[in-house]
Amino acid sequence: MFNKDFLWGSASAAYQVEGAYNLDGKGVSIWDEWVRIPGKTFEGTNGDVAADHYHRYKEDIALMSEQGLKTYRFSIAWTRILPQGRGEVNQLGIDFYNRVIDECLKVGIEPMVTIYHWDLPKALQDEYAGWESRRIIEDFTEYARVCFENFSDRVKYWIVLNEPNIFTELGYLLAMHPPGKSDMKLKFQTYHHTALVHASVVKLFKENGYPGQIGSSIAYSNGYPASDSEEDIEACRRYYETVSHYNMDIYFKGEYPKWGLSYLRNAGLAPDILEGDIELLREGALHSDFIGINYYQSNTLAYNPVDGVGLNKLNTTGKKGTSMESGVPGLFKMVQNPELEYTDWDWVIDPHGLTQSLIEIHERYSKPLIISENGLGAYDVVEDGRIHDGYRIDYLKKHILACYFAIQEGVDLLAYCTWSFTDILSWLNGYQKRYGFVHIDFEDDRLPRLKKDSFYFYQGVIESNGESVLKED
Ligand code: BG6
Repeated sequence: MFNKDFLWGSASAAYQVEGAYNLDGKGVSIWDEWVRIPGKTFEGTNGDVAADHYHRYKEDIALMSEQGLKTYRFSIAWTRILPQGRGEVNQLGIDFYNRVIDECLKVGIEPMVTIYHWDLPKALQDEYAGWESRRIIEDFTEYARVCFENFSDRVKYWIVLNEPNIFTELGYLLAMHPPGKSDMKLKFQTYHHTALVHASVVKLFKENGYPGQIGSSIAYSNGYPASDSEEDIEACRRYYETVSHYNMDIYFKGEYPKWGLSYLRNAGLAPDILEGDIELLREGALHSDFIGINYYQSNTLAYNPVDGVGLNKLNTTGKKGTSMESGVPGLFKMVQNPELEYTDWDWVIDPHGLTQSLIEIHERYSKPLIISENGLGAYDVVEDGRIHDGYRIDYLKKHILACYFAIQEGVDLLAYCTWSFTDILSWLNGYQKRYGFVHIDFEDDRLPRLKKDSFYFYQGVIESNGESVLKED
């Protein structure tokens, strides 16, 4: 049974929906710049207009209300609030988020705010290389303070960072996100800085006694050994030590896994940990109220020798079967799981992995959990003015059931947010990879909204507090 206060939600991110990229005093973010470099995004797509949520938020929130959503997770664009990253506050930016928050509350939707979903102010990137410098800690904490001062009278759920493990991997290792670097040590160093930012913001939140709950959202993929061979089991263990546990422990335990850290030290890849870091990180971990997880897929791991396969770029074309094998030599490689189905972008569909992930996290950290993202990116076709996205319904049904199984095992799950409410810009995959309950025709300047079949499916889930899915099982 889902708790009667369970937060059925859906999520978005500023750059992916708002548009209005240069309006009302907004400053330039690293994404505003990145999308203008030829070849960086799918067919040069950008978020200049996106879903135009900046102007259409009322209409979108009315649709959320019609669906019965209990919570709407959205992010704040740092450059709307502080156009240069710090210094003068842009009141028009504050006004916009006040309008969104108030509109949500007016229709009984709990706003859940992500403080950072990847759109760093370009000014800070230019000045001190953004996440590469510890100066980010002070600037980010000050930005968070501005958010808390302005919105915490109404916002009760705060997610400090969205997927720091993904934006550091894609930005500093795979060179697919800004600033487009490929340096393994830098990836671990910047990740360390994100953890310090999280802890510093949590500390501020608690010291100032703002009401509400705070956490961060990590992209989590549980792992399976590809076979029962000793080598594959060891590869899976190494994956946890250097990826899953590594990413989570520093945020929610305040330390790195011992084996993982010493492996990185021996390889000359470990982050520089300064005096006082661990103390701050422990405090941040202790005072984090919840753990946010974004779950899309699991990983199946196999032995990868020291001269084995390295990391490869992701499939951003939507041509199924085009992604290449990827791994970290000496640690593990990710392989296809013959038992499971894959999406057109080669993401594995594995609802059982969600149950396993939730249980693993619950057992390791003993904190309440929020699923801040889960969803299916797919091509959708409009037929006679309808979108029959049965594949998305099927995906969501199975993942909601997976949540239920985890709750039965004792997991304290507060919320489930689908990704996404309307269709959005998928950072690297353009507008053709769709996630929403509400279709947007991005070719039409009026950006018309159209409810998909999944819209009504989720409406039924919320209305029955999950019973509609359980009954069918
Ligand atoms: C998460 C991000 O990584 O996955 C979202 O938080 C993103 O912003 C989502 O859109 C789906 O990824 P993609 O690459 O398919 O858009």
